[in-house]
Amino acid sequence: MKRIIDYKDNNVGGGADDHNNDNNNSSTFRYLCTIKELPVGKSRQFSVRNAKGTKEIQIAVFNVDSKYYCISNKCQHQGGPLSKGILDEEKKVITCPWHGWKYSIINGKAPHKGGDSVDSYETKIIKDKLYVNAIPTNIGSRVTQPHKEYSDLENSVRDYLNHMEKDLL
Ligand code: FES
Repeated sequence: MKRIIDYKDNNVGGGADDHNNDNNNSSTFRYLCTIKELPVGKSRQFSVRNAKGTKEIQIAVFNVDSKYYCISNKCQHQGGPLSKGILDEEKKVITCPWHGWKYSIINGKAPHKGGDSVDSYETKIIKDKLYVNAIPTNIGSRVTQPHKEYSDLENSVRDYLNHMEKDLL
């Protein structure tokens, strides 16, 4: 038996109660909110520390029929907020609110062949409190290439920043 002690309270609900937990990765679980704070049919975004505790990651959590699904909140296309997308509850697919890219909320993968994917995370409820494992169950990947104009712009910004950095030395 282990205890969840290494979680971040996102300023909503919950405190540092002792919780019994039988998961070996308990130290990577982060507290999100009470289950009342994420009712059926709703989604929310959270910011939690990554598994190493070195940076914050943005995640989207969905409550579908009292099951909780969690993926990255950042769309692979241009970073659109997936928690604010349109959810097909039957297929468990979220459509990004910005330009319509789609991801499974179960594993973060595109529902079609060859699409980009986002990280997905395991959730867990202990005594009416919702936790997420900061270690992704699936790591998202970018497979589509940006348009040439976009790549050129990205490269020129990178060059500019490199020059700026050197000038400051
Ligand atoms: S940012 Fe998500 S589809 Fe463009």
